[in-house]
Amino acid sequence: MINYKTLEEITIMREAAQIVSRTLGLIAKDIKPGNTPQQLDRKAEEYIRSQNAIPGFLGLYGCPSTLLVSVNEQVVHGLPTNRPFQEGDIVSVDCGSLYRGYYGDHAYTFEVGEVAPEVKNLLKVTKECLYLGIEQCTTSNRIEDIGWAIQNHAERNGFGVVRDLVGHGLGKSLHEEPQVPNFGRRGRGKKIQNGLTLAIEPMINMGTEKVMTLKDNWTIVTADGKPSAHFEHNIAVVDDQPTVLSTFDYIYESLKL
Ligand code: CO
Repeated sequence: MINYKTLEEITIMREAAQIVSRTLGLIAKDIKPGNTPQQLDRKAEEYIRSQNAIPGFLGLYGCPSTLLVSVNEQVVHGLPTNRPFQEGDIVSVDCGSLYRGYYGDHAYTFEVGEVAPEVKNLLKVTKECLYLGIEQCTTSNRIEDIGWAIQNHAERNGFGVVRDLVGHGLGKSLHEEPQVPNFGRRGRGKKIQNGLTLAIEPMINMGTEKVMTLKDNWTIVTADGKPSAHFEHNIAVVDDQPTVLSTFDYIYESLKL
């Protein structure tokens, strides 16, 4: 069952999402050679708690951290380690907040120093996939239209679309119905309705779409060891159109992008 939200609920969800946006903006500058994922994790937890929210992932399904930090061939769900970032790494940071009973959940893939041009292109295309998916969230469309747009753009650029992990409904639970695959067929799935709130999150691989889970039972990596990118926004459907609840603006401000 899909929990459609009232405008009041969506207002709270926007704040939950913005707390995550500000957290990502706060740590953006720290993603540089020599710093570690664990340092980011502590800073993020402290900030989220200072905003009258609690970390959304911590303790959920046994998650031990505030952030999930996935480096290079890690797709998502990387547990923060004390291994320093290195020049040329790409780092996906996924963060959740729980604010007045509602979740925010979004992610950005950062570059450490100078990144190889083909990896830069993977990041660019994945971010484009995210916005193309969001554009589809109108009440004239259906859920699979989102994945169709994402898949189309990724595959046209020669990249693999992860099948095993998907976007999702968002609200009083971190994962609500419906599932939002990053692949699909035009005009399939449930009709999109006002009040729908989603986390849309393309996970796009430079090579094969196939992924594996590491022995820590958390970290998902690409099967061929090639890099993977991940961008995520939270959206609500209001007045028949998508409205983006989260923002990358704090990241852009911090990194002067
Ligand atoms: Co998510």
